[in-house]
Amino acid sequence: MPELNERPDTIFLASGNPHKIVELRQLLESLQIQIRSTRDLDDAEEVEEDQPDLTGNALKKARYWFDKTGLPSLADDTGLEVVVLNGAPGVYSARYAGENVTYADNVEKLLRELEGKTDRKARFRTVIAYVTDQGEQIFEGVCNGIITTEIKGEKGFGYDPVFRPDGYSETFAELSAEEKNRISHRGRALEKFVKRIQGRGL
Ligand code: IMP
Repeated sequence: MPELNERPDTIFLASGNPHKIVELRQLLESLQIQIRSTRDLDDAEEVEEDQPDLTGNALKKARYWFDKTGLPSLADDTGLEVVVLNGAPGVYSARYAGENVTYADNVEKLLRELEGKTDRKARFRTVIAYVTDQGEQIFEGVCNGIITTEIKGEKGFGYDPVFRPDGYSETFAELSAEEKNRISHRGRALEKFVKRIQGRGL
């Protein structure tokens, strides 16, 4: 991959998710890098996440928005990978129970699939793609844990109420946002990205 050695003033985040925007903004604040996102556009179309893996989807989104805006563009894709389900729901985590389903539908399906199973090991994995006129970079973050047998906690989103990270007695949905971001898959991937920017002036 080519060397990336210019620190940008602005990064385009290929997402309209307010949680992701705030999280990245906080991380990049001290570096005086501005964040723009699909929220700042009037007619931001959705890029279809139709690739066979997380890296493919993240790259597809980052490339699309880099071509569109000309700004260094960052996109992420996350999956929950359960060992006894051979890595499912994985890249299909958002639509595990079908198209247009709720987080609760997905959680319910997951608990059903794992009924009676003693091996409940799982991990969240986030892939971040960063595309600039100097090339493409990939960053990965993983958080290992287990799928609980019952829903617990009100915070967070997605599979948080049934995911208990290793070393904790609480689910993600019982942890504060700060604590979750510190140890989460996305937090770890973003930290790698930020370190690269800091260290190399990416
Ligand atoms: P996305 O790539 O961030 O849109 O994530 C895809 C799907 O994975 C989401 O719809 C959620 O179901 C799930 N997911 C992603 N990140 C998390 C998380 O931090 N906690 C729980 N579920 C998550």
